[in-house]
Formats: sequence, structure tokens, C-alpha cells
Amino acid sequence: MSYHIPVLLDECIDGLSLKEDGTYVDVTFGAGGHSKPILKRLSVNGHLFGFDKDSDARRNLVTASNFTFVHSDYRFIKRYLRYYNVFKVDGILADFGVSSHQLDSDDRGFAHKLEGTLDMRMNKNSQTNAAHILNTYPEEEIHRIMGMYGEVKNARKLAKAIVKRRKQNPFLFTQDFTDFLDQFPQRSRVKYFSQVFQALRIEVNDELGAIRDFLNDTIELLRPGGRLVVMSYHSLEDRIVKRFVKAGNVNGRIVTNDYGVPQVPFRIINKKLIVPGDEEIERNPRARSAKLRIAERL
Ligand SMILES: C[S@@+](CC[C@H](N)C(=O)[O-])C[C@H]1O[C@@H](n2cnc3c(N)ncnc32)[C@H](O)[C@@H]1O
Repeated sequence: MSYHIPVLLDECIDGLSLKEDGTYVDVTFGAGGHSKPILKRLSVNGHLFGFDKDSDARRNLVTASNFTFVHSDYRFIKRYLRYYNVFKVDGILADFGVSSHQLDSDDRGFAHKLEGTLDMRMNKNSQTNAAHILNTYPEEEIHRIMGMYGEVKNARKLAKAIVKRRKQNPFLFTQDFTDFLDQFPQRSRVKYFSQVFQALRIEVNDELGAIRDFLNDTIELLRPGGRLVVMSYHSLEDRIVKRFVKAGNVNGRIVTNDYGVPQVPFRIINKKLIVPGDEEIERNPRARSAKLRIAERL
């Protein structure tokens, strides 16, 4: 089984507007599906940094003098680049979400269709996993997570039932949790399970917090003319990116100077969202929800 099929590959590469001796960062290395074609276009004087917080991504590393892998969360991008004496870059690519490898590995617990442990950590060394959230978080926190991150309709009722059930029988396995979820009949069982699992995954990995921290650092890191190329897979992620490229902050409020002139750090390259075409979706159904935004540092 393949580790991951890259999504909107040509569009991302074009979006980076690569210079052969430039410095680039792929903050979600995964299978290297985007990194490898980027590296092919760089000369020995160019450099690519690849970040991934999942140690499994190491399986896909390339050996090249102009490539450096950083096993870390991209929220620390500035800190790690500084460590390598890099203060400015020409382009940053982010392909948010999980890899197919993570989804297809039953021991990782990302997929509701597989029997596995309720884990969902992208970084296998981090403390909080999905079982920990279900078995220890206060009811109102679970309610908030399900409502905000999964847009789950019965979030309050679900949180109450989780807390009641865990007193006798803590949650440990995916199948056990999905059997429990079946007590709430839904028009679309798969959609409901996906929403609940998405909510847990976002909380386990603090995905939205990491995206906010990362985006804020790109303003300082990108040189004028440098490109920010970001792919999101659900509306919570895309909303943050959309606001950020418009205003330069995650609230989306454009700041003006003393003369009322808007101060925006980016020029938006694609006014219209770039999404995969039918042919790509047919070849790779997991690409179907991808949304690509490209911006240039002013
Ligand atoms: C959609 S996959 C990227 C696939 C890659 N573009 C490719 O085509 O091979 C997302 C990857 O980002 C990693 N990831 C997710 N959140 C991260 C974070 N906050 N910091 C670092 N890596 C992260 C995941 O472990 C996963 O390997």
C-alpha cells in the first residue's frame, strides 16, 4: 500500500514559483510526495527543509546534500530554521491533515473503519491520545471539542453519554467506541463517525493551534516575493488560512496605518480557490476535499 499520494502536485509546485538556488520549506513532508519534485528543481545551492512530527515519515527520506529533515511540529518552524542559521526563505508549502499511511494503519487509531487503539497522535511521543480525552476530559470540554471541531449535532448529549459510560468501562479501542456511538442513530453513520473522529484528532494534535502559530511565523520568514502555498482539507482549517492570507492575522481583520492605508503582508495569487479536478479525484478519492490557497509576501 502506498504511503501517500500527493494532492494537487503540479498546482503546488507552480504555486511555489521555485528558483533553483532558493530556500524552501515543506512543513508536512509525509511521503515526500511534494518534497521530491521540489528537490529535483533545486540546484546544489538551493535547499529544502522538510518537517514532519510523525517519525514514520523518516521511512521516505531522501539523501541529498541540499535536503534537511526536521522531526518536529511545524509550529516551531522559526525556532528550527534559526538553529540551522536560516532566517529568510523563498517559499513554504503546507499540506495539512493526515497521510494515507496514518489513516490506513490500524495501530494509529485514525480511522473509524479499522479496529485499533484510540490513539490518533501524529507524534507518537506526545502525551495526549484519543482514549485519554474520552476517559479523563470534563464533560463540558468534550462537548466543546465535539461541537467546535466536529460540528457534531448532538455534542452535548454525546459528551454526557461518554462521561456516564467511562465510569464503568473506559474507552480503549476504536471498535468499542464506534459500537458505543451506534446508540445514537444517524441518517449518515459514516458522516457522524467522521465528524466525531475529526474532532478527537484535532484536539489530540492541537491542529488548529499549530496552524495559527505556524502561519504567524511565515510573515517574518518569507522574503518579499516568497510564496506561501497551503492546502486545507476542512472548513475549520481553510477559514484560518483564508483570513490569514487576506489580513496577515488569523482574525482576518485588516489593520490600517495612521493614514488609513491597509497594511497587508500578502498578495493573494489565486482569488478563486484551487481544488482538484474530477480526474484527480477519481485517481485519488482522498484528494476530494482539498482546497489550495497561494499568497506572495509583499
Ligand atoms: C497530508 S500529509 C502530507 C503528505 C505530503 N505532502 C506528501 O504528498 O507526501 C500530512 C503530514 O503532515 C504531518 N503533520 C501534521 N501536522 C503536523 C504538524 N503540526 N507538524 C509537523 N507535521 C505535521 C503528518 O504527520 C503527515 O505526515
